[in-house]
Amino acid sequence: MAELLYEGKAKKVFATADPDKVIMYYKDDATAFNGLKKGTIMDKGVMNNTITSFFFDLLAKAGIPHHQLEKLSEREALCVKVKIIPLEVITRNIAAGSLAKKMGVAEGLVLQKPIIELCYKNDELGDPMINDDYPAAFGFATDEQVQQCKALALKIDRILTDFLAERKIRLVDFKLEFGVDKEGRVLLADEITPDTCRFWDWDTNEKLDKDRFRRDLGNVEEAYQEIIRRITGK
Ligand code: TMP
Ligand code: ASP
Repeated sequence: MAELLYEGKAKKVFATADPDKVIMYYKDDATAFNGLKKGTIMDKGVMNNTITSFFFDLLAKAGIPHHQLEKLSEREALCVKVKIIPLEVITRNIAAGSLAKKMGVAEGLVLQKPIIELCYKNDELGDPMINDDYPAAFGFATDEQVQQCKALALKIDRILTDFLAERKIRLVDFKLEFGVDKEGRVLLADEITPDTCRFWDWDTNEKLDKDRFRRDLGNVEEAYQEIIRRITGK
């Protein structure tokens, strides 16, 4: 049995024989509100591995550097070992969730330009929002790395927004994580899935993402399947 290097809320990371590569294992566990709400979404791990692999392939073709090397099995993907920058880089096109609450606007307000938020990835602190100065001040990323993450996030936003619009999906907002490889390059890491994005149906604004679990709306698995169906055409 491979050595477990790290277990997060939705994935496990295992060592491989190659010290520069790791295996991501996608679980069915679902959490919300920094782990306060817990549950399972049947076959979420299988669906999220499929969805992440699909988006990473799409982004690689558009020149975005990412950590994934190969989808290995239903729940596993081989990835470059990176040091994760403890930042949640959130990009928003439409007000929803915590932004709608904070600004006192209805969910669905189309923003006049995308917003990028940075949060310090730390569940115990509730992933507090920070600004561009914090990472270098606390020594967990350089100013240049922060600017690279933000530039990549905006580029990814444009690629995914256009791709999803053709499939009748609105990209409301999404969270990215980045890592640094042994050569010091910043790579997109983690996952891009309905756990980490808000996807709304273009015509009805029906939620096709983890808000169905967070808000007990039902048909959670069906929403994830619908995303796969629309993006892959299968
Ligand atoms: P928020 O509106 O709750 O701040 O969420 C913004 C986006 O980030 C949404 O697509 C869900 C995603 N997200 C995560 O992936 N992980 C998190 O811990 C949080 C708070 C949000
Ligand atoms: N991923 C976070 C948690 O598990 C928050 C969320 O997705 O709502 O608590």
